[in-house]
Amino acid sequence: MSIDFSDNGGFETEEPLVTTSLTREDENEGSLRPQTLREYIGQKKAKGNLEIFIQAAKMRGEPLDHVLFHGPPGLGKTTLSNIIANEMGVHIRITSGPAIEKPGDLAALLTNLSENDILFVDEIHRLNRQVEEILYPAMEDFAIDIIIGKGPSANSIRLDLPKFTLIGATTRAGQLSAPLRDRFGVTLRLELYTPEELGLIVTRSAGILEVPIEQEGAMEIARRSRGTPRIANRMLRRVRDFAQVIAGGVITRPVADQALTALEVDFLGLDAVDRRMLQSIIEHYGGGPVGLETLAATINEEAVTLEDVYEPYLMQMGFLTRTPRGRCVTRRAYEHLGLTAPGGQNGGLDQLSL
Ligand code: ADE
Repeated sequence: MSIDFSDNGGFETEEPLVTTSLTREDENEGSLRPQTLREYIGQKKAKGNLEIFIQAAKMRGEPLDHVLFHGPPGLGKTTLSNIIANEMGVHIRITSGPAIEKPGDLAALLTNLSENDILFVDEIHRLNRQVEEILYPAMEDFAIDIIIGKGPSANSIRLDLPKFTLIGATTRAGQLSAPLRDRFGVTLRLELYTPEELGLIVTRSAGILEVPIEQEGAMEIARRSRGTPRIANRMLRRVRDFAQVIAGGVITRPVADQALTALEVDFLGLDAVDRRMLQSIIEHYGGGPVGLETLAATINEEAVTLEDVYEPYLMQMGFLTRTPRGRCVTRRAYEHLGLTAPGGQNGGLDQLSL
């Protein structure tokens, strides 16, 4: 089997503050992750539904129906999957779409599961076609068809699998094929967290890390972590460093502000890439519309990174809109960057009057 859980496990080695993919430091801080639904803060809708589904499945003595989590990175898809396993009292096996290269890789994973276990597939939209086709009967009938031999003497045998739960996670539900999407009984969308929820998460994490933190310090980190617990916890560790060296170890609002400003995160949580993105639309494309690929090439970033990591927050904050003709900045973006929007006080371009 060629599933690669090699050295750095696919985690990024350099650790920019805003990246929403897992870094080694995040991984080492598994202790910050809640283990039960009770400890889990935020995602009220998804959590409420999961509570019911888990309880019902347990009462019936059955595995949970297959679950698809979708939404921007860093919002807790893996954490929630681990919690589900914990609450159901079953094992979880974690892998990802690109790691499952061949049908045989998937067959090996599935045949090694025990009854009611969970298989977690991150980035499930990146599964290849042949692997996906093995997954259909596995999800529906708990069986796979294996071809033995080659050419005219090839034979297909059906192999029964233990009943299991597939949990798929994706940042791009739209890229999932319809047959795969339809086989998930439960689909849950994770939303960006509110500053209040992030404030509670930062306070909880500081408690676990035994870092003294004032409420105002926690809220400063919360407001600047773009709705994402993974970023909030990463900021907390950086702010802790500043607090330790320059403020006697306590995280207060001024220390958090000083640390995050030094790390180029502004008071609304925008970082250098966010600002470059908005500035480029304004300076090179008159405020938009501009196509995503064109914009990505202009600022030398990957289009998928802009779409998955940067845009959700810029849109939530009301700085950016998506139109059929491309991306446009809003009047608020001009104001935030200290620039004058075209059209002055009188409405200006259509997209600026949002
Ligand atoms: N740490 C990271 N995400 C969390 C959450 N949603 N609740 C509590 N602690 C967390």
